[in-house]
Amino acid sequence: MSNRKPVVVVTRKLPEPIETRMRELFDVHLNADDHPFDRSELIEAVRTADVLVPTVTDRIDAGVLSQSGPALRLIANFGVGVDHIDLASARMRGITVTNTPDALTEDTADIAIALILAVPRRLQAGAKLLRSGEWSGWSPTGMLGHRLSGKRLGVIGMGRIGQAVARRAKAFGMVIHYHNRRRLSPEVEADLGATYWESLDQMLARMDVVTLHCPHTPATFHLLSARRLALLPRHAYLVNCARGEIVDEAALTRMLARGDLAGAGLDVFTREPEINPALLALENVVLLPHLASATHEGRIDMGEAVLVNIKIFTAGHPPPDRVVAAML
Ligand code: DGY
Repeated sequence: MSNRKPVVVVTRKLPEPIETRMRELFDVHLNADDHPFDRSELIEAVRTADVLVPTVTDRIDAGVLSQSGPALRLIANFGVGVDHIDLASARMRGITVTNTPDALTEDTADIAIALILAVPRRLQAGAKLLRSGEWSGWSPTGMLGHRLSGKRLGVIGMGRIGQAVARRAKAFGMVIHYHNRRRLSPEVEADLGATYWESLDQMLARMDVVTLHCPHTPATFHLLSARRLALLPRHAYLVNCARGEIVDEAALTRMLARGDLAGAGLDVFTREPEINPALLALENVVLLPHLASATHEGRIDMGEAVLVNIKIFTAGHPPPDRVVAAML
């Protein structure tokens, strides 16, 4: 790139200190009112930008990328998941794609644990009872849930976030099991006390709680299909802070409604921000608005990672968080 400041288009409002730094460093186009970009705005952005900074709410598909101008060389995603970007198309067009992998690990793991606690211990039902004015006081059989300590936790996707969840769950006395594309080193397995299952089906059939931490890719779409969900014991709970598309949400909803599964804690959904009304009607779920990475600290860290990726890339070097490494 020449000596002029790179044109950076940011699709959503970012934390103030990040936007201030972007104004200093780049010829930046910010989204002051934070409206989600429609398709025509995305196309205009890829036509004019040197660098696009999208988020999970932008669908950067092959059609959008086919309209990109010759200047677009980097998509610096604000977020770790990149399933909203057509990576093959970006690669074909020589566009590098980066993400923010480390910034949200601990925050996401905290929310996964919050859901792992909230659903079996019936926190939402308890809070609702109290606010209803119907609570008649403590009783030996009132508001009984299930203990975490000693229960088997099946972690699907044992990357950074999966391991951060496993560390926390171990501290709660849970027994860690996992399924992952690659087995962890014996040292990490020993540290987490984790048992590896090559067969996801076999693991599912034996878990008390299952938590999802794999990326959404064509290979993991409906990884928890109706068939696999049916392998879970009836007393089991499912937690999803990864992507809605990894689970067959309609099948899950039917199972929860029939009592074929004890409960679910979901932070992500198939058609966000729309939520299946049948899911909303259930009592045995805790549903959150995709907030796992939503901390002030985390969003600043994500912004810093975006800044670093852009700065290093535009200085002519490979950026640290490459998902697609195209030729410079
Ligand atoms: C991510 O980074 O992928 C989250 O889901 C959005 O913050």
